[in-house]
Amino acid sequence: MDIKKKFNNYVQSLETYIMFRIKSRMIELTPELTAKNRKPIAMSMGAPIDMVPEFVINKLKECLSDPSIHNYSTPKGETYFLEAIAKRMKTRFGVDFNPKTEIFSLIGSKEGIANLIRELINPTVIEEDKDIILIPDPGYASYKEMIKVSGGRGLSVPLTEENNYMPNLDELLDKLVKEGYKKEKIKALIINYPNNPLGKTCTREYLEHCVDFCTRNEIILISDNAYCDIYFDEKDKPLSIFNIEGARDVAIEFYSFSKPYAMTGWRLGYACGNSEIVGMLGKLKSTIDTGIFKALQKAGAELINSKEGDEYIKQANAKFKKKISKFVDGLKELGWSVDMPKTGFYLWIKIPSKYATSKDFCDALLEQSGIVAVPGSAFGALGEGYIRLSITTDEKSLEEVIERMKQDNHRFE
Ligand SMILES: Cc1ncc(COP(=O)(O)O)c(C=O)c1O
Repeated sequence: MDIKKKFNNYVQSLETYIMFRIKSRMIELTPELTAKNRKPIAMSMGAPIDMVPEFVINKLKECLSDPSIHNYSTPKGETYFLEAIAKRMKTRFGVDFNPKTEIFSLIGSKEGIANLIRELINPTVIEEDKDIILIPDPGYASYKEMIKVSGGRGLSVPLTEENNYMPNLDELLDKLVKEGYKKEKIKALIINYPNNPLGKTCTREYLEHCVDFCTRNEIILISDNAYCDIYFDEKDKPLSIFNIEGARDVAIEFYSFSKPYAMTGWRLGYACGNSEIVGMLGKLKSTIDTGIFKALQKAGAELINSKEGDEYIKQANAKFKKKISKFVDGLKELGWSVDMPKTGFYLWIKIPSKYATSKDFCDALLEQSGIVAVPGSAFGALGEGYIRLSITTDEKSLEEVIERMKQDNHRFE
């Protein structure tokens, strides 16, 4: 039997997620690189390495001895978790949510976005019948794969220097319609500010434009706010889409504990927004998972509204700022012209002219110097010509990266 052929057309052509492919390659090359004093330094995944807040560990330990904590939770989230999220949304963004109908717990935000996409798309193998989701380009590498395996089509929303990373959506729609795409096939628009991989954020006016565009065109607005708490200056503090009037009629927003609290392994996230969208997401989730371990919800609920949690984020951001700016200085010495990002912990840098593709440059960084980066092409067609570096590792390793780049002659020329 040809087992692969039993799988659906989309899954047959699906590759393992880029970050895990890079990780496997890194592991494969580790002995060889270590032998030449170039032990791999991972700058690929957006996974902060600091210890998670001590407060949350203590809370987790405390509740583990509660006998009622170990059985099934509700897919939606326990009341204490949902109420804690409502409180957080109020204190962080000044927005009121009904914890019963407008908030849903997630096993990490990636899962929630993937399941929502799956629910929006009517799967078909006929190209012209495919439902469309508009996605940022460059953008989080998972979006386009999630859409593809759901039988839909992801179309680029180009984020470029020329449009200041805030493209006019009406112009884009006109262009797509002229190219032959059917407007009624567009189910949703995904926005991601602060953006991975660019580290760019957007203005309030642009969020208003997104809400207005989606309202007029009857498109669901999916705001991925995974990086909303990673910023370096109060004036750049990211907003919620729900700070915009009318958003509640069309939008859902995704949040994660992963990035602000270095809790990537906990798989803890949530979605807030329009009660019908949240409810539909819940229907599917209730059939395919049975919620998050209650102990994680309990500890997470206490963390998210605690002084300790806020202080942790403040200090983590101060550390990111220091590390990133030092690393930017190092790159400048090597000829790169790169600005300090205002949000997020990624650097998006141009590839030197001697490399034909971003993958070629990443291969050279890894094979010659043990520096593990992600090719920009993984984030969309507009990512070609760039690589993404995640500045989440420790300061010493970052110094070592700059030193290796000097020694191995990785300069921008
Ligand atoms: C833009 C964006 N959204 C969502 C996620 C998923 O995060 P998690 O599933 O850990 O909540 C990531 C992770 O890197 C991301 O970069």
